Amino acid sequence: MDSIRIRGGKPLNGKIEISGAKNAALPLMVASLLTEETLTLSNLPHVADISTLISLLCQHGAAAVMDGQMTGSGSCSGRSLSITAAEITNTEAPYDIVRKMRAGALVMGPLLARVGRARVSLPGGCAIGTRPMNLHISGLEQMGAKIDIVGGYMEAIAPNGLKGAEIRFEPASVGATENLLMAACLAEGTTVLENAAREPEITDLVQLLRQMGADIEGDGTDRLVINGVRKLHGTQYRVMPDRIETGTYAIAAAITGGTIELTNTSADLIKSVIEVLIEAGAEVVETETGLIVSRTGPTLNGVDLMTLPYPGYPTDMQAQMMALMTIANGAAMITETIFENRFMHVPELARLGANITVHGHSALVRGVDQLVGAPVMATDLRASVSLVLAGLAATGETVINRVYHLDRGYERLEEKLAACGADIERITGS
Ligand code: UD1
Repeated sequence: MDSIRIRGGKPLNGKIEISGAKNAALPLMVASLLTEETLTLSNLPHVADISTLISLLCQHGAAAVMDGQMTGSGSCSGRSLSITAAEITNTEAPYDIVRKMRAGALVMGPLLARVGRARVSLPGGCAIGTRPMNLHISGLEQMGAKIDIVGGYMEAIAPNGLKGAEIRFEPASVGATENLLMAACLAEGTTVLENAAREPEITDLVQLLRQMGADIEGDGTDRLVINGVRKLHGTQYRVMPDRIETGTYAIAAAITGGTIELTNTSADLIKSVIEVLIEAGAEVVETETGLIVSRTGPTLNGVDLMTLPYPGYPTDMQAQMMALMTIANGAAMITETIFENRFMHVPELARLGANITVHGHSALVRGVDQLVGAPVMATDLRASVSLVLAGLAATGETVINRVYHLDRGYERLEEKLAACGADIERITGS
């Protein structure tokens, strides 16, 4: 297993180009199952989850061409992907693929809508809580599907097709909104999704589906109204910038006391993160292609924050901001309201000298003067990158083990940070 070695304590200065958003790209790719025509996506990030999803779509019968080359699995390092699901030849999404990546379960709605059946493994993904599928299941049942859980699989059939329904999510769920939204596009009649998630990745999916011929109203709000159509067609679409990658590198500038320009992105996507950064003492300047983040002052201030559904502070940016708060003046109370088990980075940050106490859903971070490098273990995608950030600020050497989590979501992380002056390298393991 690979690890990453960082010799920290240096301010980072330079420019980082932000990649396309993994969390937008995955549902957009799944939308290809809704049409027999070709869907072409550009600005795709080079991350492991994209390759994993390509293998899943191909085993459903889709053909995938990456930058002009046929692909089925393995390394898919292009930026532009064309997927053609002319025929669905297999409706099973196997455990071996879906366990690696929760987004795999998004095929359930589209398969049911298109061919009336799906057998989808209960998903894996990051171990940050129980992460149930009840909202996906009950929503599809309200649309007329019959779903049984057998041997770890959701076995779904809709022999008479899916019918429009009024579905309310409690709590708002990104994945369930995406799954039901895609299913509703080909259902008979009108579907209303109440308390729908409003994350920008949902808006990206709505825009793509509309370009494919879907009739959807309400994007950007918590009420989506979808009038089913008989067929969708192919199109070309550019994946939105990754707001979590943007926020992560913004914190890299603040935590190391440097200046980083982030391009191919937009400050609008991370407003709630910028608010905390500014309160903590960083400077943020919007540019035409993104933003410039710097911290010139010697100290940071502790800022309390609570994760919330969009437009609130993102749960996917909680661990990174906690890393920043470990070296701020005073204390910061960080409350996680989305996932119940998302503090796995706390004991690892403590190995670097952080002073953090967890009380239920809140973590009290008391700033220390200096973090000191140590070997640590990556536990999930965003937790891993918080350790990278802490390692960049720490004096001495930090070795982060089990970095395969990072490879699921961050494209060329070491290269991007090294270009800003970080002393960081990957140690290839067996
Ligand atoms: C997506 C993102 C993930 C992000 C999360 C919250 C992708 C691939 N993943 O995950 O990075 O952290 O949104 O912004 O885009 N819930 C239920 N029942 C369900 C589904 C969800 O109770 O059927 C609950 C969850 O336990 C959680 C909350 O709803 O408390 C939000 O989860 P959800 O938005 O579904 O997260 P994901 O779509 O898995």
